[in-house]
Amino acid sequence: MIAPAEKLQDVVALRRARPEDCEAIWRWNFAADVRAQSKRAEAVAFLEHARWFARRLADGDAPIWVIEEYHHGVGVVRLDPPQHGRARISIALAAFARGRGVGRAAIAAACRSRRRPIVAEIFADNIASCACFEAC
Ligand SMILES: CC(C)(COP(=O)(O)OP(=O)(O)OC[C@H]1O[C@@H](n2cnc3c(N)ncnc32)[C@H](O)[C@@H]1OP(=O)(O)O)[C@@H](O)C(=O)NCCC(=O)NCCS
Repeated sequence: MIAPAEKLQDVVALRRARPEDCEAIWRWNFAADVRAQSKRAEAVAFLEHARWFARRLADGDAPIWVIEEYHHGVGVVRLDPPQHGRARISIALAAFARGRGVGRAAIAAACRSRRRPIVAEIFADNIASCACFEAC
């Protein structure tokens, strides 16, 4: 729990993903409740994810960050390659890390890093995500 005197931006930080984050990111992105909120609903095998992840790490225009809370990874946020100049944002937090401002801080930090318009595609019934992006 974040103590009252602490500022969220001092507690939540983004760090660029590294090769050793591959499995954690697969788990965050392919948790059943996260898939249910994604356009691509089916599970992806780890090897397929690992190939995608290796390609993406080499792409400086489409960053992937691990979201850290008190220096521990709790989720992932990424910007997909821009289409018509607009990057698409995607975020997934471990269930235990939700509902205390981490998502909001992570989205704001990712957007600050790009400084150009970003697109978020959210199912209308994804109340948490709609509220979080609106709050940002
Ligand atoms: C969507 C998600 C990133 C939100 O992150 P979070 O850390 O839980 O959200 P926050 O705690 O930062 O909340 C931000 C705002 O959204 C609101 N909110 C968060 N969860 C909510 C919920 N379940 N119902 C209503 N409002 C909610 C908060 O009240 C807050 O608003 P406020 O700042 O005006 O008080 C997170 O729930 C998640 O990873 N969900 C599963 C994956 C997913 O849906 N990804 C997005 C796909 S588009």
